[in-house]
Amino acid sequence: MKILKIGALASGRGSNVEAILKNIKNGTLPCEMRIVISDNKDANVLKIAKSYGVKALYVDPGKRKHTLEPEREEEYARILKEEGVELVVLAGFMRILKGALLREFKNRIMNIHPSLLPSFKGLEAQKKAWEYGVKVAGCTVHFVDETVDGGPIILQRCVPVLEDDTPETLAQRILKEEHKIYSEAIKLFAEGRLRIEGRRVRILPKNE
Ligand code: GRF
Repeated sequence: MKILKIGALASGRGSNVEAILKNIKNGTLPCEMRIVISDNKDANVLKIAKSYGVKALYVDPGKRKHTLEPEREEEYARILKEEGVELVVLAGFMRILKGALLREFKNRIMNIHPSLLPSFKGLEAQKKAWEYGVKVAGCTVHFVDETVDGGPIILQRCVPVLEDDTPETLAQRILKEEHKIYSEAIKLFAEGRLRIEGRRVRILPKNE
């Protein structure tokens, strides 16, 4: 099978990137992580990438708070293209993409979000779900478009909210599922089994 070249953008802890790297290493994910880029010099994710022998780079995001400056976004896109990246995975990347990345990697950027979208978009989704009082929470992998947490949904997983949950314990259980479904979604992409039809993502049967 062809090996898919992926690149990750992340800002912090890096547990999703680590789960992906583990699955690549144990042979369940037919991918090669070409590069991990962070907008945060001190991000733990850069250490994780290096410990797996993956190129890890801090790339200056510019002065804006929640987006990349346009020329910086071009730089991100240029580096990813130079590495031959075919799919970009966002894993806790705290900036909204607007320009070059969306153009250059149209329908080839995924994100993971810790809620059952379209509920609880944005930051602290697990806490918002807990405070709202939902009985079922979860996580979503979706393609990234110009909307925030609004692109076509690839996979979702439910996590029940337990009586004695706190936002933290709920977030921990959701994170365990994130670690599973992100790799599952990437694998489906690698196998050429995702077809975007408007808002819907069709999952094609496995080619025997
Ligand atoms: C995860 O909860 C992810 O869903 C959200 O940001 C968090 C990143 O965690 N987008 P980590 O850096 O992968 O540990």
